Amino acid sequence: MIVTASRVERFNAAHRLHNPEWSDAKNAEFFGLCNNKNFHGHNYTLIVKVTGEVDPESGYLIDLKVLKNIIRKQVTDRFDHKNLSLDVEDFHKLNPTAEHIAYVAWHRIKKHLDPKFALHVTLYETERNFVEYEGR
Ligand code: NI
Repeated sequence: MIVTASRVERFNAAHRLHNPEWSDAKNAEFFGLCNNKNFHGHNYTLIVKVTGEVDPESGYLIDLKVLKNIIRKQVTDRFDHKNLSLDVEDFHKLNPTAEHIAYVAWHRIKKHLDPKFALHVTLYETERNFVEYEGR
């Protein structure tokens, strides 16, 4: 019996999208408002889905308290109320786009999850824009 269990967490963070290899003009044109040099913020929503075999003894796939604690410790406590571009080492060499934030979150969570589970993350940067990553 294969089930997916999901947990939603939220965090607020600032960032600036910028490629240091490009000119200021090209950055401004490509990233638009997200290139603002004094940063800007988003209210992010992170949806973490874990898929696997239900344990017949407990009836659980995974204890969702355990999953919540992994997400908070590894991701949202590190990112919440931070400037991702300046305060979070993961993004010192990685542009903090939604794609890259989802990628970093996936790897941080995966490291602390039983390898028998498949992991899928969805990151909403705005109500209408979201990305998904599952480790490929
Ligand atoms: Ni932005």
